[in-house]
Amino acid sequence: MADQAAIAAAAAILAQGGLVAFPTETVYGLGADAEDPAAVARIYQAKGRPNDHPVIVHVAPGAKLDYWVSDIPAEARQLVAAFWPGPLTLILKRASHIPDAVSGGQDTVGIRCPSHPVAVALLSAFKGGQGGVAAPSANKFGNVSPTTAQHVRDEFGDAVGGLIGAVLDGGASAVGIESTILDLSRLATHGPVLLRPGHISAEQIAAVIGRLPGLPDQAAPRASGTLESHYAPRTPVTMLDHAELAPTLTRLLDKGLRIAQITYAQPVADGPQQRLPADPFGYAYGLYAALRAMDQTGADLIIVETPPQDAAWLGVNDRLRRAVFGSSGIIESYLRA
Ligand code: TXA
Ligand code: MG
Repeated sequence: MADQAAIAAAAAILAQGGLVAFPTETVYGLGADAEDPAAVARIYQAKGRPNDHPVIVHVAPGAKLDYWVSDIPAEARQLVAAFWPGPLTLILKRASHIPDAVSGGQDTVGIRCPSHPVAVALLSAFKGGQGGVAAPSANKFGNVSPTTAQHVRDEFGDAVGGLIGAVLDGGASAVGIESTILDLSRLATHGPVLLRPGHISAEQIAAVIGRLPGLPDQAAPRASGTLESHYAPRTPVTMLDHAELAPTLTRLLDKGLRIAQITYAQPVADGPQQRLPADPFGYAYGLYAALRAMDQTGADLIIVETPPQDAAWLGVNDRLRRAVFGSSGIIESYLRA
């Protein structure tokens, strides 16, 4: 666990324009001073991420929202009161001094106040708690997000100690998938829009603001976490319903293929596998570590048992859909070969 000295050193690195990887309750972030465009550019460099993608600004509890945002609707204040610190990112009209490097050149900014104690301590130490830390997930662009400090080191290797000045360890992230993103920047015309489902559900948001968020349309702000293919391991990933699992596995294993499995609840055949809890929060907590572990088994294919499809599993299914996106038809092609 990062101690006070490590956190103070990390805050100093941020103040000097350097990069710090830090834990949040969702996933680990790769942070830089949000008001220093050159520092934010180093995040893009480290991640290999296109520089027109906006990054979330992380603020300390009690930070002044109107410093970062030009227009704060009542709904934003209500949601901040209900869910911050916590895994909810709000998209709002940006204040004019927010660098283009943070907003991706759009007229909005994503802002969130994380609850992880190490993140809170870092944000409180940086610029006396009045700064903002721009931070995407601490992974190479398109890869699975890290939920431990070791995942971050695995992602960035040599860059740790070089381009990345410090990696703060805060244990395994309790939520395990990225924050819920709610767009409140076009309320008058489009209402609240759920850009990315997460631990805080549409129903919980509706209970606070009195209306259920809509789903994104073509005009919704761009979000790389909403690209069709994202959060994907290097090994192809596919999903199968439980009934298809055993017969398909048998056929693939007969072909000499090496198959890794991620299941929930049901016992499965031999081979590399990870069994996740049958509740959506426990599943989300273990999902990325399971994908990383199965990615390292040398398997030809990772098969994920399709989780339940009801609302409580929306965040998990969203991430899995993106992880499998590039691998459609993979089973058929293996069986034909
Ligand atoms: O849980 C999380 O949100 C984590 C932790 C580190 O806080 N961060 C995270 O960042 O997932 P990232 O960059 O991997 O995903 C943030 C998403 C991206 O899809 C980005 O495009 C979107 O938020 N985003 C950020 N600012 C935005 C804006 N102004 N308008 C629309 N989307 C925005
Ligand atoms: Mg990400």
